[in-house]
Amino acid sequence: MGDAFVACGYERRYGVVSVSNRPDLCQYQCNGAMAAAKQYHKAPIVIANEVLAALEGREMLAICEAVAPGFINLSVTTEFLADYVLAMGREERFGVEQAENPQTVVIDYGGANVAKPLHVGHMRPAVIGESVKRILRYVGHKVIGDAHLGDWGTPIGLIITELKVRQPDLVYFDPDYTGEYPKEPPFTVSELEEIYPYASKWSKEHDDYREESRKAILELQQGRRGYMALWEHIMRVSMEDLKKNYDNLGTEFDIWGKESDAQKYIPDMIRDMKENGYAYISEGALVVDVKEETDTKEMPPCMILKSDGATLYNTTDLATIVERMTKYDPDRIIYIVDKRQSLYFEQIFRCAKKTKIVKPETELIHIGFGTMTGKDSKPFKTRDGGVMKLSMLIDQIVEKVRSKMADRDMSDEEKDTIAKKVGLAALKYGDLSNQATKDYIFDMERFTSFEGNTGPYILYTMVRIKSILAKLGELPEAAVSAGDYERGAEETGLLLTIARFADMVEKAVAELAPHKVCQYLYELADNVNGFYHANKIVGEADETKRREWITILRIALAIFADGIAMLAFEAPDRM
Ligand code: ARG
Repeated sequence: MGDAFVACGYERRYGVVSVSNRPDLCQYQCNGAMAAAKQYHKAPIVIANEVLAALEGREMLAICEAVAPGFINLSVTTEFLADYVLAMGREERFGVEQAENPQTVVIDYGGANVAKPLHVGHMRPAVIGESVKRILRYVGHKVIGDAHLGDWGTPIGLIITELKVRQPDLVYFDPDYTGEYPKEPPFTVSELEEIYPYASKWSKEHDDYREESRKAILELQQGRRGYMALWEHIMRVSMEDLKKNYDNLGTEFDIWGKESDAQKYIPDMIRDMKENGYAYISEGALVVDVKEETDTKEMPPCMILKSDGATLYNTTDLATIVERMTKYDPDRIIYIVDKRQSLYFEQIFRCAKKTKIVKPETELIHIGFGTMTGKDSKPFKTRDGGVMKLSMLIDQIVEKVRSKMADRDMSDEEKDTIAKKVGLAALKYGDLSNQATKDYIFDMERFTSFEGNTGPYILYTMVRIKSILAKLGELPEAAVSAGDYERGAEETGLLLTIARFADMVEKAVAELAPHKVCQYLYELADNVNGFYHANKIVGEADETKRREWITILRIALAIFADGIAMLAFEAPDRM
């Protein structure tokens, strides 16, 4: 279409073709004549007819017509379509174009805090981030997934304070102690998980306790030996536990960055901000103005140091950007963090640009996700209203899937393995199929259903293809060119959907949108099942047809496999 517009003297960009929104009339449409009409001061229908004339003789087109006021309707012949799909099957990644200039991208998508168990709130960033990472990698970008664990600041201060109350004689609290500290931590991971919520609650009701803990952080930040040693224990004990939990979820960080890693970049960063006149003292605190003239909403200054000299969440995030620029020089940094932090990130991003921590062209992006809620639209809780551990949520959904498989003819062991895969798919698909920014309801029944827009339905469809292929025994060589036969509506529908794969990936990459992948896989599954029900694939007598159908199913299966890999879940061989 681009060529046709150019041949008629119009700009190539008008030759954009999209999937038709009237599939009853045609498969594709081009609205370029409508847009070009303004620039060239001609009636759209005139332009459309010129373009049609330029397309005369193209055998690939079964329908090519202009309709008032100037749309161009297009359909391709089923032979062309089939040839196209068969060719896709021979291409690496089905012909998805690789990035011409691969970018280095850091994705910050963990954000769990040490000394606190992973709770359901940590699922969304882990799941969305993992998927965005894999989508970008699919087109050749160099992506670094960073856990960015919270191991600095308030929680640590609270734990130190509470430990001091409980075990005041520990050597870590003796300021005069100069010897080595014990190798064994003075707590277990479950003790640690109990201490933090207790201390957090206590501090809200007791000012002196809160003050004590504030002092502890400050002393930790200033490098007090005993506190540093305690902090290292806290780190080691809970890191191990966090790694186990992320691993269970299938989240694979490339680096286990921590807030504390950035602390060493703070002094120079602050000195630069002061020397260059960006940071100034306001009411005792060090701040950078980030207001812009065009702002319509309140934009408070970005605070770098509190009046007592303590650093903040902001300071750490800015220093982490310094660290990332130094180590990786990324083209983009993407943060997968709760959308309630969007004002915060706007301040940080502006501050980083203004103070030249990043280059003018470095992209800083916040993907602010919504809340996963219970059916009452409130954040998801346990039955007694407590915060639910992520491991508990995973166990529940796996158990649910497992119960549906009770009557299957398989060993218990196999059922367990399959339930784990399907359960994780249910959970992840349930999350990723929504636009990230939206809140959604955690609906165990719906998510685990083997029908409808769910992860298990996608897997079920893959298993169906696998079982058809298995029934066939040795598979014929892939068909290389379209056979000469009449294709039914279901077959054409499946071919059209497969043909859209590269376009879908391009959009998912551009919009950093895993839900586009989900939507596509759902449509592909519907098309595969429609095709399956309309045809007797295994028993088809016509060799040409049978061979082509098998090839198409194999291509669909391979696309599913790449698709679910982008969503970070796996398919069993049966279920
Ligand atoms: N640890 C933080 C929290 O629990 C989330 C960190 C998100 N990432 C970041 N770079 N600020 O709220």
